[in-house]
Amino acid sequence: MGKKTVRIAIIGTGGMANFHAECYATTPGCKLVAAADVDLPRARAFADKHKIPVAFGSVSELLKSAEFDGVSIVTPDAFHAPISLQCLKAGKHVLCEKPLALSHADAGKMTAAAGRAGVINMVNFSYRDWPVTQAVAKLVQSGKIGEIRHVEASYLQAWLASKVWGDWRTSPGWLWRLSSKHGSKGVLGDVGVHIVDFATFPVGPLASVSCRLKTFDKAPGNRIGEYPLDANDSAILTVEFQNGALGVIHTTRWCGGHANRLFLKIAGTKGTVEIDSDRGVNAYRICDGPNLDKGVWRDVTVPDVPNMYRRFVKSIQTGKQDQPDFARGAEVQKVLDACFVSDAKGRPVKL
Ligand SMILES: NC(=O)c1ccc[n+]([C@@H]2O[C@H](COP(=O)([O-])OP(=O)(O)OC[C@H]3O[C@@H](n4cnc5c(N)ncnc54)[C@H](O)[C@@H]3O)[C@@H](O)[C@H]2O)c1
Repeated sequence: MGKKTVRIAIIGTGGMANFHAECYATTPGCKLVAAADVDLPRARAFADKHKIPVAFGSVSELLKSAEFDGVSIVTPDAFHAPISLQCLKAGKHVLCEKPLALSHADAGKMTAAAGRAGVINMVNFSYRDWPVTQAVAKLVQSGKIGEIRHVEASYLQAWLASKVWGDWRTSPGWLWRLSSKHGSKGVLGDVGVHIVDFATFPVGPLASVSCRLKTFDKAPGNRIGEYPLDANDSAILTVEFQNGALGVIHTTRWCGGHANRLFLKIAGTKGTVEIDSDRGVNAYRICDGPNLDKGVWRDVTVPDVPNMYRRFVKSIQTGKQDQPDFARGAEVQKVLDACFVSDAKGRPVKL
């Protein structure tokens, strides 16, 4: 028997929403039925572009007037929690952008609300969609590289040091990311959240973190229009994993030459494995077995995996919750909260 078509709405129709729409458009078993944004003309233009039948100027109107099963929430970070709670209350399945919330407490409320609603809930840790991410997680968890001793993870972006993604000084889509008044938790909340997931997904949970955050001067008075430029630009974490391994995790928006690079090296007692997105995401490097004593690396090519949007739709169709869910989003949020405490107090924080 054929599965029911899943009807999807998109809330927040800015930059990233285009990627959601394009991915749903190529996902079998679903159709995009509505879009909503506080900027109604933007929602309408987005709906036209992606051939979505209706557009709304608020979440309340969307919930009142449209029939749909699941929703992608692609608003700025500060609205993830309130909009998720509103949609969960209405019984909708939710794929929420990262970071899941602005605090572990809010992420916990969202997780509990999703549980009460009994719906599919996922957080868009999009680098889980890379074939190497899934393959390396399986490899490490299988014990092939032995007990993990050392982890090096970084997420480097260039947009503050270059115009590789346009001029951040004139774009609200970048400026809100620099302003805590607009709900930004800086580079740590924006992409630090990804690299914490990226490192802990294969290696396992953290036991403690020590973090240093820094915001550099960027404009006269560190303000552009309504945006105070006070959110952190760079973050360095030294961590201990629950399995005893030590690690360094860092991220910055100031690394010209790397528009969007994720790097992960996991060293164990029987080998070392490495992901470098600048070299591609369909192959990882490994030094293990007889190669270990020669220091020789080999490339291992891995097959594609279904992306988040396909897995969200499939989960709705089958009723089987896939990962990463809200509980996982909350777990990562706990690490971010600990980073802020550690930075403020100048000491490691246990998790
Ligand atoms: N997973 C990823 O790899 C990835 C990549 C980029 C962005 N993101 C996330 O996606 C989200 C959106 O980022 P973006 O770059 O598209 O931002 P953006 O500023 O380009 O777009 C945000 C949109 O949300 C709308 N909006 C604001 N408040 C709203 C509300 N209360 N209700 C409805 N709409 C509202 C804005 O008008 C705007 O159109 C962020 O949370 C960001 O962290 C994730």
